[in-house]
Amino acid sequence: MFIKMPNYEIVIETGGLKSLGKWIREVYTLPNLFVVTDQNVDQLYHQTLIDALPDFILSFVVIQPGELSKSMSTYQEVIHQLIELGMKRNHMLVAFGGGVVGDLTGFVASTLYRGVPYIQIPTTLLAQVDSSIGGKVGIDLPQGKNLIGSFYDPKLVMIDPLFLSTLDQREYHNGLAEMIKVGLIGDKHLYQYLLTYDKVTEKEIAQAIAVKRDLVLIDPYDQKERMFLNFGHTFGHAIEKKHQYQTYKHGEAISYGMLIALEIGIRLGETKPELYDEVKELFIRLGLVKEPLLNPIHYADALQMDKKYGSDGLNYIIVPRVGVAKIIKLKESDWS
Ligand SMILES: NC(=O)c1ccc[n+]([C@@H]2O[C@H](COP(=O)([O-])OP(=O)(O)OC[C@H]3O[C@@H](n4cnc5c(N)ncnc54)[C@H](O)[C@@H]3O)[C@@H](O)[C@H]2O)c1
Repeated sequence: MFIKMPNYEIVIETGGLKSLGKWIREVYTLPNLFVVTDQNVDQLYHQTLIDALPDFILSFVVIQPGELSKSMSTYQEVIHQLIELGMKRNHMLVAFGGGVVGDLTGFVASTLYRGVPYIQIPTTLLAQVDSSIGGKVGIDLPQGKNLIGSFYDPKLVMIDPLFLSTLDQREYHNGLAEMIKVGLIGDKHLYQYLLTYDKVTEKEIAQAIAVKRDLVLIDPYDQKERMFLNFGHTFGHAIEKKHQYQTYKHGEAISYGMLIALEIGIRLGETKPELYDEVKELFIRLGLVKEPLLNPIHYADALQMDKKYGSDGLNYIIVPRVGVAKIIKLKESDWS
């Protein structure tokens, strides 16, 4: 299965890693590949990647797993190692891992030598349906997530659902949360599927990507429609930050955030209470949220630093009904 972006192709294929070399050859002629990955992915798939790419010379930079690696210090260390390994401006960088590796490597690619080509091989469900798509790359600062970054397209995204077989259930459900979000904002068939089934295939991955692709194409720089993708993220980011990115996974934090957003929608007379109940039950079943739910008031301080807080209030996404999203200006009285 393929999804076309204006400047590159997203290949979605179970077992597709075997044909990765052929795809890379479409966009790159040199033999050298510089792979950035994390320790977990390296341990599981180092040899698999080498075996899949017999015609290439691979050099690896391996970072610590986890959000803390999306930092200025890891960014500097990766660049240092790439230069030491002999990476030149026309060499290809490969982001091989979850969203942390993807965001960090993409940001390195966008800045090293004023930009080098890179490809994404996302290995978590979240990275396959979300972070590897759309060209947003970046790192975190102590003041908040993704505060430094850029928009920088890869040359290729290769999605092989076989990588998901080694993900633990919590990480898998973390990705499902983003897929449920996509269903809620833009694809009611996907949402209906996820209400019943936990296991996703190429088809559902492609459906989720298609919604994001369409929003990114209409609004590449996050001025309007692309903001729909932030559904659940305003409070989600505040929750992650307040707990130092340790307690809740991204998907869990945004699940609480989506419930807060549905509740705000109900208060504003836009969202039906039954939708809230249905989504809450689904999130509880998947272990994404637990009762008692988090109270938005406890996250007010963390919210102020969110970069979407413009001078005229907070751009905020609500979902009036499944498959339809809407931007509102959120006032404190709407949620406190
Ligand atoms: N750029 C974007 O548009 C965008 C969108 C959404 C999220 N993000 C970012 O994505 C990041 C989260 O990504 P994530 O959830 O993939 O986290 P992650 O990269 O930390 O990966 C989660 C864990 O899974 C492990 N792992 C990865 N692949 C594996 C595999 N196949 N088998 C077993 N273990 C594996 C990793 O080592 C890590 O421990 C956050 O930093 C978030 O801000 C970016």
